[in-house]
Amino acid sequence: MSEKKEFAIAADGVDPKIVPKRKLWTGAEIPAVGMGTFGSDRFGMQEIADAVLGAIEVGFRHIDCASVYGNEDLIGESLKKAMDGGIKREELWVTSKVWNDSHDNVIESCKKSLKDLQLDYLDLFLVHWPFPNYHAPGCDVDSRSPDAKAYIHENYMKTWRQMEQLVEMGLVKHIGTSNMTVPKLKLVLRDAKIQPACNEMELHPHFQQPELFDFCIENKIVPIGFCPIGSPTRPDRDKTDTDTVDIEDPVVKKIAARLNCHPAVVCLKWAVQRGQVPIPFSVHRNEYLSNIRLTVENPLTDDEMKELAGIDKNCRLIKGQVFLWKDGQTWEDLWDLSGEITPP
Ligand SMILES: NC(=O)c1ccc[n+]([C@@H]2O[C@H](COP(=O)([O-])OP(=O)(O)OC[C@H]3O[C@@H](n4cnc5c(N)ncnc54)[C@H](OP(=O)(O)O)[C@@H]3O)[C@@H](O)[C@H]2O)c1
Repeated sequence: MSEKKEFAIAADGVDPKIVPKRKLWTGAEIPAVGMGTFGSDRFGMQEIADAVLGAIEVGFRHIDCASVYGNEDLIGESLKKAMDGGIKREELWVTSKVWNDSHDNVIESCKKSLKDLQLDYLDLFLVHWPFPNYHAPGCDVDSRSPDAKAYIHENYMKTWRQMEQLVEMGLVKHIGTSNMTVPKLKLVLRDAKIQPACNEMELHPHFQQPELFDFCIENKIVPIGFCPIGSPTRPDRDKTDTDTVDIEDPVVKKIAARLNCHPAVVCLKWAVQRGQVPIPFSVHRNEYLSNIRLTVENPLTDDEMKELAGIDKNCRLIKGQVFLWKDGQTWEDLWDLSGEITPP
């Protein structure tokens, strides 16, 4: 007898129809909160796939996947169970991403994700990182690819052309970017035939990226926020001494006390009310249930939103050191802090 989880709509869940949505430039709507699926080294693949099914049961309709997370085949089983259980394909929003070793093989990579996820199309397909510099999942931050390259716009556009082809082939409804900067996005907007619908970027109260956030909104690119809770239990290899902890911030804790909720919920409410699309991860039912419920109850006040805007610490957690391409660089070189793309 199978021990695997079966699908059943939860009585204590949220009606997906009342979960807020964000409009994309195409007119399509993306649910304003999504379920992350990167378990890093802490959770088993089946546990994550079960959490995806549980999340759909409680009202999530937006699932953030990626080939590099190594679990799309099991998530595909969960999506199939949900659809066999009555959820229509068009009610779901499924995102996937092309990994750094496949910038020249985007179509093949997308087809593999579709096969694993057991879908005919993706709602959104992202270029996971702007650098083609492969590193093995779980490797140390000091590891470097021997043939690592800088961002070369001409090469990125070759990848983007393949992304556009996926839309033309009907395999993907929208395409987008991830881990980009304003100067890189300006060039992509200048040269794209099909503009990015979304940019997935690190966003949490201690890392609000106001300039990039505003640039995205002005250019009709919906910002999707990863590590929306500040990824408090990320692996030690992704932590540095100067990192701050959003859920321990006194302002976040004070608001959590007023609402009688976990500080994580405050981070997510701030994200939804600010206008980005957070994609929190959790395998725990009580947590992912709160993470969808928060979109429909107890909004933050204007004063609380202002106070949270004031706690930005410009604290990037996912620094991307493994993408550096030459000796003597620091992770800041990846993020074009001068306003110009860091030269090769
Ligand atoms: N595009 C990219 O390059 C990129 C990069 C990173 C992440 N992502 C995506 O973003 C997703 C989220 O990022 P993340 O997982 O690093 O960080 P996160 O969502 O900020 O933090 C996840 C952790 O927060 C805790 N949590 C979640 N909901 C909670 C709640 N209601 N109450 C208390 N604690 C709660 C859980 O800790 P416990 O497990 O200890 O309960 C969980 O492991 C990923 O899964 C992935 O899909 C994309």
